[in-house]
Amino acid sequence: MRDEIKRLIEIDRQRTLFTHIGALLGWDQETYLPERAVEERAEQLALIQGLAHEKAVQPEIGDLLAALEEDKDLDGLELAYLRVAKREFERESKLPAELVTEMARQTSLSQASWVQARKENDFSRFAPYLQKMVDLNIEMASVLDPKGEQPYDVLLDLFEIGSTEDGIAKVFSVMREDLVRVLGKIRSRPQVDDSFLRGKVSAAAQAKMSDHFMDAIGFDRSRGRLDITAHPFTTTLGRDDIRITTRYIEDYFPSSIFSTVHEAGHALYEMGIDPHPDFRGTKLADAVSMAVHESQSRMWENLIGRSSQFWKPHYASLVGMAEGALDGIGFENFIGAINKVEPSLIRTEADEVTYGLHVILRFDLEAALISGSLSVSDLPEAWNQKMKELLGLEVPDNAQGCLQDVHWAMGAFGYFPSYALGNLYAAQFWSKMNEDLPDLGERLGAGDCAPVRGWLQRNIHKPGNSYLPGELLEKVTGKPLDASYFTRYLEEKYSRIYGF
Ligand code: CO
Repeated sequence: MRDEIKRLIEIDRQRTLFTHIGALLGWDQETYLPERAVEERAEQLALIQGLAHEKAVQPEIGDLLAALEEDKDLDGLELAYLRVAKREFERESKLPAELVTEMARQTSLSQASWVQARKENDFSRFAPYLQKMVDLNIEMASVLDPKGEQPYDVLLDLFEIGSTEDGIAKVFSVMREDLVRVLGKIRSRPQVDDSFLRGKVSAAAQAKMSDHFMDAIGFDRSRGRLDITAHPFTTTLGRDDIRITTRYIEDYFPSSIFSTVHEAGHALYEMGIDPHPDFRGTKLADAVSMAVHESQSRMWENLIGRSSQFWKPHYASLVGMAEGALDGIGFENFIGAINKVEPSLIRTEADEVTYGLHVILRFDLEAALISGSLSVSDLPEAWNQKMKELLGLEVPDNAQGCLQDVHWAMGAFGYFPSYALGNLYAAQFWSKMNEDLPDLGERLGAGDCAPVRGWLQRNIHKPGNSYLPGELLEKVTGKPLDASYFTRYLEEKYSRIYGF
């Protein structure tokens, strides 16, 4: 390996250390930080992210990249690394240090304000912070692409390289039609009873369930841990330190099981990245994109975690942990209930069919916030109208409406589409995995998740950031993104459950 690449890796690893320290401060803020420590934490985060940025834009990186530009002898991984390094260097170099630190500071304050606003159902308290996050994102978009007329496209590209508002709108309009059609068929059939899932189950019992299912799918506890937060998430604090969180809702225990499995799915991805030992701690050892990340979490949560094969070996243990809530219910009724389709208010608890409609709502609204056609003060009203239009529901309060998700508070505009794209990717990967592993269902039914984990690790996790999202999809499945895999998966699964 040439000395220039070795030096790039060395600088990159220092930047990664700063990034991971920043992630640790952020994780601590969401889990254990005392209320009054928020302001200083914001300063700490601003400082550390400023230092990470300084590392990422040092002129030496530009010189090293230029020296390697003409080299014809680099191998595939080295070329992939240079591609990622160049892209990141060019992007970071456009961002002024003051903007980076201001975003880190405001994000921390805004997230703290969101937690309180959501708890107290008080949008007006959060609105000035949200305004600040919108303004900072518009500013960031204009700095990254000074000639760009579509700031939202610039933001989308940060989460899914190459994606645009128009492109996503096209995919979503087909998806919306398909979802509404499947929903219509389901609604025409007798509905499933899931009332027994709403019996009281203590947080302690749910913690046991979370532990059980983390182990079942193969979360490596020597390389991570689970904690409790207002909004479940996964964060990487080090190559061998992947933190996940969940929340315990006492009158709906499945929520924590599926949140934990979802986040553990993200964690398995992070734990499995290893394009080559030489590139550990570099940008090549990052995930490909947020949508591919979501394909992993949602595959474990839904395609695997809500299947009857997966539950066969675990149902009896669940009944034992459920403090009587499942006594006398029976396996088939349970499977029906955890797959119940019904329009509801909360995205993270939505079924697989209506979930995409929640994402379309957020996509439309955040595009409007960034383009300026929707003002922050009109957001609650616009949210409630869209909810009526897409899901036919009245929103009783903002805590169950526009305050439910943390993403905008974190300044993550352009993130939401990843969730729906993740479903599409997941279904396409799943189809290929089932082709490659014909006894997959049998193995899951015997409580053995290792074949699934192995396939995902080899094909999707290991390469890290060596490919663009579309390249990875083609390499693994042989085809570009095709939304019909997801529709077929839904049709097949729900025709079985609802008998249409
Ligand atoms: Co996720």
